Amino acid sequence: MLLLGIETSCDDTATAVVENGRRVRASVSTNQDAFHAKYGGIVPEIASRQHVALLSAAVEDALDRAGTTLADIDGIAVTRGPGLIGSLVVGVAAAKALAFAIGKPLYGVNHLHGHIFAAFLDRDDVPQYPFLALLVSGGHSQLVEVESATRMRIIGRTKDDAAGEAYDKTARLLGLGFPGGPALDKLAKSGNAQAIAFPRHRADPGSLDMSFSGLKTAVRYYLESDEGACADRSDVAASFQAAVVDVLMQRLDAAFERKAYTSVVLSGGVAANSALQGALREWGLRNGVPAFVPPPKYCTDNAAMIAAAADHQGEAVRVDAMTLSADPNLPFELSMGSR
Ligand code: KG4
Ligand code: ZN
Repeated sequence: MLLLGIETSCDDTATAVVENGRRVRASVSTNQDAFHAKYGGIVPEIASRQHVALLSAAVEDALDRAGTTLADIDGIAVTRGPGLIGSLVVGVAAAKALAFAIGKPLYGVNHLHGHIFAAFLDRDDVPQYPFLALLVSGGHSQLVEVESATRMRIIGRTKDDAAGEAYDKTARLLGLGFPGGPALDKLAKSGNAQAIAFPRHRADPGSLDMSFSGLKTAVRYYLESDEGACADRSDVAASFQAAVVDVLMQRLDAAFERKAYTSVVLSGGVAANSALQGALREWGLRNGVPAFVPPPKYCTDNAAMIAAAADHQGEAVRVDAMTLSADPNLPFELSMGSR
């Protein structure tokens, strides 16, 4: 099955052509960073307008690069939520029109499920169910028990900031501009992760929840202190990063103490982080658990993961091309009511 994927939930205008939910024939992402950078964050109105301006060309580009045409596409997969409403509606409207025009099925995908299925892209071995997904993005940080392509539930989540949000806010404190995560990752490479003992959030007994806002505040207080004022910024970045990774790996340990999953999947934009990727691979080797860490291009928002999710979830996410609507607060769990 050859699916055309469309993802416009935030600020990336992304399209892709994916075969059988695994092989990426083309993945195109038009980054809008240049339009948002001067505001220090994503401006929803600008994101939405840029999607309108870029999406048609992005669809054509993906088809061209895949060496195919709409006539050979078996269906359209689109992100229906969660995300920015003004951004989501652009992708949803385009997908509905395309599916209607070519008379092929339309699949409405949850963006977060997409991140999980990024682990199935362009590789020979795939995660076996039930697996545990550590989903860390700009808006979410959660541990997900994935029993099958359509049965998944959140077993731990952040109580405040998402990991990506903490990265972005800390990067701003360090004067790193926007988007902050990749810049902080780079700066941390030359720093000493043991230089500053930032706090690690401890979960309540029996809980897998996490918190990152205290860490971000600790970095702010440190930078305002006499010691912090003359500290090496790369040491601050590396020490902050070590604290984030420690908290995430601790929750992973705790989840596996409860249940022996067959594998672990790292997903979401923060999964592109080099320290986290390294820690998860190492954790997998140490514990004899296969660890699936997608390449950075499939960790951050992309449309190949949306097409992959649609392929795996099939009829459960098939929607009507005339009536599908975007849902900025789409619930995580699939239910028949979500169609
Ligand atoms: O999944 P994503 O592309 O968009 C959302 O759905 O939120 O995630 C974006 C987040 C941003 O907070 C960005 O700073 C973070 O992922 N990020 C990183 C890295 N690359 C992207 N954080 C840390 N290290 C990275 N290399
Ligand atoms: Zn995302």
